[in-house]
Amino acid sequence: MVQLTLPRGSEVKAGKRYKAEKGAKNVRTFKVYRYDPEAGENPRWDIYELDLSTCGPMVLDAIIAIKNSIDSTLAFRRSCREGVCGSCAMNISGRNTLACTKGIDELPAGTITIAPLPSQPVVKDLVPDLTNFYAQYASIKPFLQAETPDPTKERLQSPEERAKIDGLYECILCACCSTSCPSYWWNPDRFLGPAALLQAHRWISDSRDEHTGERLDDLEDPFKLYRCHTIMNCAQVCPKGLNPSKAIAEIKKDLVERQV
Ligand code: SF4
Ligand code: SF4
Ligand code: FES
Repeated sequence: MVQLTLPRGSEVKAGKRYKAEKGAKNVRTFKVYRYDPEAGENPRWDIYELDLSTCGPMVLDAIIAIKNSIDSTLAFRRSCREGVCGSCAMNISGRNTLACTKGIDELPAGTITIAPLPSQPVVKDLVPDLTNFYAQYASIKPFLQAETPDPTKERLQSPEERAKIDGLYECILCACCSTSCPSYWWNPDRFLGPAALLQAHRWISDSRDEHTGERLDDLEDPFKLYRCHTIMNCAQVCPKGLNPSKAIAEIKKDLVERQV
């Protein structure tokens, strides 16, 4: 019989509990993943009781309040605080999303669990190492490629041509989709994942790009593209409401159509 064991150090232990101050009336409990690979200790869940009257309404507001007033050692990423930069992506109450656009009152009652994006190495606490994710994005050549000499003004598109990249150009590369995809968990080095593939489709669909054939050649690979089994986690979690699964299906369709 196959015996499955967790790698050494991966078991998450119970951590510290930080109680709310006496008299706090609007208290919510946050269970937060803590891990410092350099410390040589197992990860742990720390529990923070936070008085919500001391912070704003979003989960990111709560995390910032915890860092500012309870535990300054907590590490996380954030920048824009309005759903634009993608850096605050994390797993909140079991679902990948952006901490800055997720309202605390949108979450089910009880303890709110916060962990880093799944399946990626952890730099520290809620900060995932996205080196592989960005390398895969770079591999699809996310820039205009054209042989036609540069025009004197911009490269024009008709409104219909421009509309073809709607639902694609809005991607903020937060990695919520790829890190929720079981196929990506199993083959993170060979399957490009929904984010990189959505971006690939963005450039394939751009009427100004002249390297469509080469782009499709690069993707025609049993692992890079065809590991997608239409499980649809990607479309369910995208905080921008995009549908990477549909973009992947469109690439597969393009590959079939160019053979007939
Ligand atoms: S549809 Fe494809 S890319 Fe999206 S989660 Fe499923 S397997 Fe992954
Ligand atoms: S498709 Fe959506 S979930 Fe995936 S990286 Fe782009 S914005 Fe994030
Ligand atoms: S802080 Fe920029 S998307 Fe959340």
